[in-house]
Amino acid sequence: MGAQWGDEGKGKVVDYLAARVDVVVRYQGGANAGHTVVVGEREYRLHLIPSGILRGKEAVIGNGVVVDPAALLREMEELAEAGCDLSRLHVSDAAHVIFPYHLLLDEVEENWRGDRRLGTTRRGIGPAYQDKFSRTGIRMGDLLHPEYLRERLFARVSHVNAVLRGVYGGQEFDPEEMFRLYCEYGKRLQPYLTDTAAYLTGALREGRKVLFEGAQGSLLDIDHGTYPFVTSSSPTAGGACIGTGVAPTLIDRIYGVVKAYATRVGDGPFPTEERGGRGNLLREKGREYGTTTGRPRRCGWLDLVAVRYSCQVNAFDGIMLTKLDTLTGFPRLPVAVAYRWKGELFREFPRSLKVLAECEPVYRELPGWEEDVSRARSWEELPREARDYVQLIEEETGVPVCLISVGPEREQTILLREV
Ligand code: IMP
Repeated sequence: MGAQWGDEGKGKVVDYLAARVDVVVRYQGGANAGHTVVVGEREYRLHLIPSGILRGKEAVIGNGVVVDPAALLREMEELAEAGCDLSRLHVSDAAHVIFPYHLLLDEVEENWRGDRRLGTTRRGIGPAYQDKFSRTGIRMGDLLHPEYLRERLFARVSHVNAVLRGVYGGQEFDPEEMFRLYCEYGKRLQPYLTDTAAYLTGALREGRKVLFEGAQGSLLDIDHGTYPFVTSSSPTAGGACIGTGVAPTLIDRIYGVVKAYATRVGDGPFPTEERGGRGNLLREKGREYGTTTGRPRRCGWLDLVAVRYSCQVNAFDGIMLTKLDTLTGFPRLPVAVAYRWKGELFREFPRSLKVLAECEPVYRELPGWEEDVSRARSWEELPREARDYVQLIEEETGVPVCLISVGPEREQTILLREV
């Protein structure tokens, strides 16, 4: 799972780990996520389907995910064209469905917020989870029962239309047309819909290995993140159980993916943000543009106060460090090890967003390196400065770094400890 604000490079790490497991499962979020995986000449951008499918593994979309059927079918077509075996895809019949009104509400609600906007990906994520929790949502399995679907959809659309009319004065929806379209989606997706909680628990009981692939990051968690500048799901460790129906006792290892520097998309406080030239340089060198929205990501230095907090919430067994190669060429590398607030120094991540917004990072400055680390394949091949950088992360978090990624290719990976 992501230990920062998303975009840590989970796609690459999951792809690497997927070689060692039988099943890969997504447990939260939706098409707001974007995982980039490079295999040979080809680059895959996956939003919903776990990237393990590229390794020929069983791929599961768990009940905690919100599924836009149109986006899912598009992704399936692309993967089929690339020769992927889609018979290995399993979608939870209890996952909630994203409808066109969720996309529109995401848009108009963001516009309504004006200066207080959250900077969402506008993929309908927040409104779909709102419906889930207010018990007006529709689940994937419901698409297979036209009468039930019709009743729920018509009730929901009439309410949505009243809100659109009364509050936003804009577009309204024709429930009949939407009903027909979603019945069609249901027919096309029927072969993939199943009770994935039973499937996963069965697989674990049989001794098969299951990898839970987080989307977004711990600091975007609805409960434990920088609320309200968060997503509407639980990317933290506990979310893996809720979002799949697999009990906590069946999960035996938790790994956090940490990017060697920090980025954030969307609004919200970001203490180590670097607005000047060095931030732009990080963005260009790290190709920090959203996989889903193409938005330029805000860039800054590694924030170990935030990462330490993620380690607390998730109890990571190990850290997978990504994009170390992007830091090559910076003469000095600031790393935040504490915050200063109103003259006081502290090492804990603040609970209050207001305090966080006023915090100044306290940096340890490490010397950088010039050597091209993207060719390194072992610890010994890394320059001393890069090794010191990694060791500082271990010291400050108390969590061992198990894997270092030094480029987008599968081979550009250094395994330090068996995982
Ligand atoms: P939402 O998930 O579209 O509602 O967006 C809420 C916040 O989460 C915004 O700040 C988004 O930029 C951020 N967010 C959502 N998905 C991702 C992701 O995959 N990577 C990074 N940030 C994300």
